[in-house]
Amino acid sequence: MAESVLITGASTGLGKEMALYLAAQGFQVYATMRDMSGADSLHATAKHRGVELHILPLDVTDKASIDKAVETMVRDTGGIYGLVNNAGIGLRGYFEDLANAEIRQLFDANVFGVMEVTRAVLPHMRREGRGRILLISSVAGRIGSLGVSAYCSTKFALEGFGESLALEVEPLGVRVVIVEPGIIQTERWTTNRGIAAGADNPDSPYYEWFRQAEKEADQLVRASSTTPQDVAVTVYRALTVHNPKLRYMVGRKASLVVALRRYIPREWFERLYFKIVMRRVTRPRKNLRPGQAS
Ligand SMILES: NC(=O)c1ccc[n+]([C@@H]2O[C@H](COP(=O)([O-])OP(=O)(O)OC[C@H]3O[C@@H](n4cnc5c(N)ncnc54)[C@H](OP(=O)(O)O)[C@@H]3O)[C@@H](O)[C@H]2O)c1
Repeated sequence: MAESVLITGASTGLGKEMALYLAAQGFQVYATMRDMSGADSLHATAKHRGVELHILPLDVTDKASIDKAVETMVRDTGGIYGLVNNAGIGLRGYFEDLANAEIRQLFDANVFGVMEVTRAVLPHMRREGRGRILLISSVAGRIGSLGVSAYCSTKFALEGFGESLALEVEPLGVRVVIVEPGIIQTERWTTNRGIAAGADNPDSPYYEWFRQAEKEADQLVRASSTTPQDVAVTVYRALTVHNPKLRYMVGRKASLVVALRRYIPREWFERLYFKIVMRRVTRPRKNLRPGQAS
């Protein structure tokens, strides 16, 4: 029987492409989504691409839905070989403009949701003495940026979680892999952008800087040549190679920035890179300081 893999957040973007790609490579794919209204469209795309997907409801913030999806999959296939923790939301805005409730919601999906789904599949993988748990982190899990402090915090948290979990479960035959994509054009940058209410308010002291940061981000998205399929290919590799690495980066620019951080002295990198990022946002109104935007 083909290996089975469960993917969270498969209604759009990277998760959707991973589901289609892995199915085309012969995996038995359980593509899950929190809102099943997207199921017909995904089935239609799968049919168009000549593959078959099992689509199940799963909201990573709802334990009952996680347990039900895992139970269904185990009943159908006898176990779970792979889990791709892909589902995630964004939250954009300068820190002072983020409400605690928004940050908690972000952590619920991006961190606690990942932990809950992982907790649900681990007993099955332990029993089998094999399995792969993938965490879709980000270059934002390796380096901070402005306007995304909370999002980066969730991805940094995933990095620590993945690194520690890997040490705990590798002796049991279960491998943990952290996948770190750079910027890729998906719904994340349009309908699922996740701009905080406070950041969208012209009265915010950071409003002008945030708007400029968003323009810069959009330019990076437009200039990015990394595609959802690049991530899918990496995920396939992480699921199939005999001895997977702990981390895989996806995208040339992301790899370059992280390599620079690793190889040049930390102080130099921080001075240089952070200065460049800050200047890009503050340069258009050089003398502007927080509190002076309005
Ligand atoms: N695109 C990038 O530039 C980029 C770069 C690095 C890392 N990433 C990471 O890659 C992953 C996928 O992002 P994407 O670019 O494909 O964005 P996306 O198109 O917005 O996809 C996110 C997916 O997560 C789902 N989701 C959100 N909350 C959920 C919940 N509580 N339970 C289940 N599913 C939920 C969304 O479902 P709905 O359709 O119902 O909202 C959607 O299918 C995320 O973890 C993201 O942080 C993206």
